[in-house]
Amino acid sequence: MNIWEAIKKRRSVRSYQTKPIPEKIIYQLIDAARWGPSGANLQPWKFIAITDPEIKKEIGKYARFFFIKSYHIAEAPLVIAVLADLNKSKWAVIDSSMAAQNLMLAAHSLGLGSCFVGYFAEEKIKKVLAIPANFKVVGLITVGFPAEKPSIPKRLDVKEILFFDKFGKISMTRKILEFRKSGPLTIFKKVLKVIFRV
Ligand SMILES: Cc1cc2nc3c(=O)[nH]c(=O)nc-3n(C[C@H](O)[C@H](O)[C@H](O)COP(=O)(O)O)c2cc1C
Repeated sequence: MNIWEAIKKRRSVRSYQTKPIPEKIIYQLIDAARWGPSGANLQPWKFIAITDPEIKKEIGKYARFFFIKSYHIAEAPLVIAVLADLNKSKWAVIDSSMAAQNLMLAAHSLGLGSCFVGYFAEEKIKKVLAIPANFKVVGLITVGFPAEKPSIPKRLDVKEILFFDKFGKISMTRKILEFRKSGPLTIFKKVLKVIFRV
């Protein structure tokens, strides 16, 4: 799959077929994750692949945003807990998040849907999964063959989020383009502004 297609067409999928995920695919997903960048190449990540229905149900109980429950945790054939070893690197959470994105793109390229879940009671999850104290649970990624085609969520326009050289500064090309697009009154005002510095 082309990189642009992978990046742009990956969506958060929250409804899955019951079909199990072969272990070979789980290895492929973690392989993609481990090729992510990490500060000083410390690779401070660990992953737990959860397929046991009882454990998924248990952690599903603790994954909610106020009263909105992430039902897809219990329903997905596979949940991957992404862990960051806080003792190993000061960038552990950043590194593990990048690994998570690799994993989700790889899942998409293999025809799988996935969803990063960030709302959960971390201590409860750590207890259920027997995770040592020095690890942070960065996220729980649900994975499965999609049973839905999610709509495309809006993204901020590049123009709204990109500056050049300094915060708030737009490029000369864009200034010219915007100047050309503006009506005669705006152009007149801008000319006055340049001449009289008002
Ligand atoms: C840090 C983080 C936390 C998230 N937490 C949740 C969550 O708890 N439950 C959920 O269903 N989706 C969660 N999502 C998925 C987002 O809702 C989703 O990425 C966003 O709506 C954009 O949609 P897209 O992934 O299809 O582009 C989370 C995503 C991120 C990056």
